Amino acid sequence: MTQALKPLWLAATALAGSLALWSGSAHAQKFDGLAATPQMGWNSWNTFACDINEQLIRDTADAMVANGLKDAGYVYVNIDDCWHGKRDDKGVIHPDPVRFPSGMKALAEYVHDRGLKLGIYSDAGATTCGGKPGSRGHEYQDAITYAEWGIDYIKYDWCDTKGLNSAAAYTTMRDAIRAAGRPMLLSICEWGDTRPWEWAKDVGHSWRTTGDIYPCWDCEFSQGSFSAWGVTRILDKQAGLRQHAGPGHWNDMDMLVVGKGLSEDEDRAHFSAWAMLASPLILGNDVRSMPATTRRILTNAGAIAVNQDRLGVPAWRFLQTGDLEYWAKPLADGDWALMVLNRGAQAAPVSFDWGAYHINDDFSKRTADFKRQPYAWTEVWSGRRGDTTRKLSAQLPSHGVLLLRLKSKT
Ligand code: GLA
Repeated sequence: MTQALKPLWLAATALAGSLALWSGSAHAQKFDGLAATPQMGWNSWNTFACDINEQLIRDTADAMVANGLKDAGYVYVNIDDCWHGKRDDKGVIHPDPVRFPSGMKALAEYVHDRGLKLGIYSDAGATTCGGKPGSRGHEYQDAITYAEWGIDYIKYDWCDTKGLNSAAAYTTMRDAIRAAGRPMLLSICEWGDTRPWEWAKDVGHSWRTTGDIYPCWDCEFSQGSFSAWGVTRILDKQAGLRQHAGPGHWNDMDMLVVGKGLSEDEDRAHFSAWAMLASPLILGNDVRSMPATTRRILTNAGAIAVNQDRLGVPAWRFLQTGDLEYWAKPLADGDWALMVLNRGAQAAPVSFDWGAYHINDDFSKRTADFKRQPYAWTEVWSGRRGDTTRKLSAQLPSHGVLLLRLKSKT
């Protein structure tokens, strides 16, 4: 090539490159910045299952503003399965005309007017888990419909998907959302079956790591064709997953069951664990009518701050003695969070000698050498304060928890 031709050739190559970037879905990306910290909101499924309608969604949005949930950070109001009516002769999906007579666009406006965001649910198969129309073969069409309605969040389920490749199916929906042009958070719900933590980082903003949660402490509950899991069962299934999560891509431990029948201690432990492991915090109770004790747990600013910490590193269990477990989570600005969990059926004394521990996190490369560097701590549920120069002593009830925030004193 002569010198004279070179600039032209370079220009043509650059043009072809940018055209390829602009046109090809192979270069599509998920929308950035939608889940820099784990998403927070509410979802209809755990309490209402298929018994949903537009009034419930409006009342829930109003309640979230009135009872402080919105101010605490819960912004997504998510409609789960069974909002669907039929597809019309052009294949366009419509909401159930009896349950959602005003339509989704009006509902999205209502929710947006209150400073909240609206989420919806679909499925990668031809039918959803509730037997409603899924998005298979309609992905681009549905994404455009949702964008026109003003939807902000899509939970995308995995029923009726025999023979489908999960990474390809979810990537198709990601690309459809990108093409529709509206930033919509993509919440992957394939229950951890095909190890989404290994392929979904650039596909969705979170991925379920397990089957469905069940409001019990430590049980496996048969739902017929599948099992649902208690709080500690889900916690144990997170082993080995923390290094896959981070800002924009979270391990989703499923929606919360706080306020749905666990004891108050268990509710606090459940919320603390989801906070420590940086799971999305999607409420599953009826927030229109919750007791003050439930509201206090769900709006605890200290626990939420641990979950929403911008470093985005999930906790790991660094010590187990008898029924007591100790979990650590490095936080931004050199802080740490520490959770002590009593999994046993009996109350247990905590006696933790800080000086004996030099915490080393191979993943985040953060360390805490309590002998050399003292920290002041606040226990976020009780407000109790102390520092690491003295032993941490407490009596933990069965299924009780301590959640400490540590600040360096130097
Ligand atoms: C699956 C999901 C649940 C819920 C139901 C709806 O079980 O895991 O979270 O969305 O489907 O049918």
